[in-house]
Amino acid sequence: MSTFGSLFRVTTYGESHCASVGAIIDGCPPGLELSAADVQVQLSRRRPGQSNLTTPRDEKDLVHIQSGIEQGVTLGTPIGLLVKNEDQRPKDYSETDLYPRPSHADYTYLTKYGIKASSGGGRSSARETIGRVAAGAIAERYLKQVYGIEIVAFVSSVGKIHLPAHVATPSIAPNGNQDNDEAEDALTPEFRHLLATITREEVDKHPTRCPHLETAELMTKRIIRAKEASDSIGGTVTCVIRNVPAGLGEPVFDKFEAKLAHAMLSIPATKAFEVGSGFKGTEVPGSKHNDPFVLKDGKLGTSTNWSGGIQGGITNGEDIFFRIGFKSPATISQPQYTAQYDGTPGTLAARGRHDPCVVPRAVPIVEAMAAIVVMDQLLIQNARKTAASLLPPITTLPPTMVMPSKGKEVSQ
Ligand SMILES: Cc1cc2nc3c(=O)[nH]c(=O)nc-3n(C[C@H](O)[C@H](O)[C@H](O)COP(=O)(O)O)c2cc1C
Repeated sequence: MSTFGSLFRVTTYGESHCASVGAIIDGCPPGLELSAADVQVQLSRRRPGQSNLTTPRDEKDLVHIQSGIEQGVTLGTPIGLLVKNEDQRPKDYSETDLYPRPSHADYTYLTKYGIKASSGGGRSSARETIGRVAAGAIAERYLKQVYGIEIVAFVSSVGKIHLPAHVATPSIAPNGNQDNDEAEDALTPEFRHLLATITREEVDKHPTRCPHLETAELMTKRIIRAKEASDSIGGTVTCVIRNVPAGLGEPVFDKFEAKLAHAMLSIPATKAFEVGSGFKGTEVPGSKHNDPFVLKDGKLGTSTNWSGGIQGGITNGEDIFFRIGFKSPATISQPQYTAQYDGTPGTLAARGRHDPCVVPRAVPIVEAMAAIVVMDQLLIQNARKTAASLLPPITTLPPTMVMPSKGKEVSQ
């Protein structure tokens, strides 16, 4: 469906070539100072036509606030946000009247609904993510102001070009495929430093949004190579969320990482999600993989962070980090041998303006979905804590059953 979240609830609307796209955001706390400019920053990072690495579709993606905000302050009522679709060229899609694009959503949408938008990807288009990015920007504003929460995503690979191992990948199997149990930490010191310090300004220094400039240049060449061959290429985005209080996440079905995975895998073109040590973490024994507890700033923390900040589906106060795999975009102008809707074999060479690689533009979308998840889970946990705080204290329980000292509290 088109709604995500329980207490912070985001509904997006719009197709690639309709009049406008946008969102209704319900559950934003009243009294938050918020302007269109706060939302526009992230929409402008998402918009097409930012560089020669993205689709040339020229949309300004200017946000129009429709409701829920007066004199720069949220009212607590649904916030309506609208962005006009302006640079549409439906004629570019005439071939796809005959051919469903291989690995796009034309065939599955038509099969499911028995009807589909007459041009473009319709609802499956990444235009839909505008509503998410706008909603995420609102959530982020609250999270930053009240909890100091920071969310930064960056491009960690394009095709086979990855951030160097000492910067971006867990140093788990130093001897390649050998069956040894060597491991120092899920994270190299350099990668930990990167997660702890990376900023959006650093990410945006290069159009690829890869924070390692030498690698970013290689990525650029790889994307240009795909573009010049009328082809496309995939990649990964890594995201870190800092300063999230311990205690968020709703076991068992709504574990924090399950919510994150749901949010991330709902972004178009995603194919993979891993959190913390991820698949690499399966290669070392528990004695190496466990995160020992230590006292940090007077609170219990962990000395390593293989868990990626989540244990038992609940945040533990450490940095939350995860990685998402994006496929090579489906629409390519290189001729592809395929079949028409009626099964007639033939060759499709798609026209239209398309992204040769989606990851640079996916960065703000990943950040937005992360913000929406954290915001929703915070409101849920705060509701529980408020309800519990109204009860008289229980003094009859053994000490093993209650929190011994102040941990990281969720409410301020
Ligand atoms: C930022 C972004 C831009 C995208 N641009 C394109 C594009 O130009 N051409 C294309 O075929 N797919 C593009 N996609 C992916 C499609 O929307 C997606 O592959 C399609 O809807 C099929 O859905 P699925 O890949 O999730 O199965 C983009 C995705 C994102 C996140």
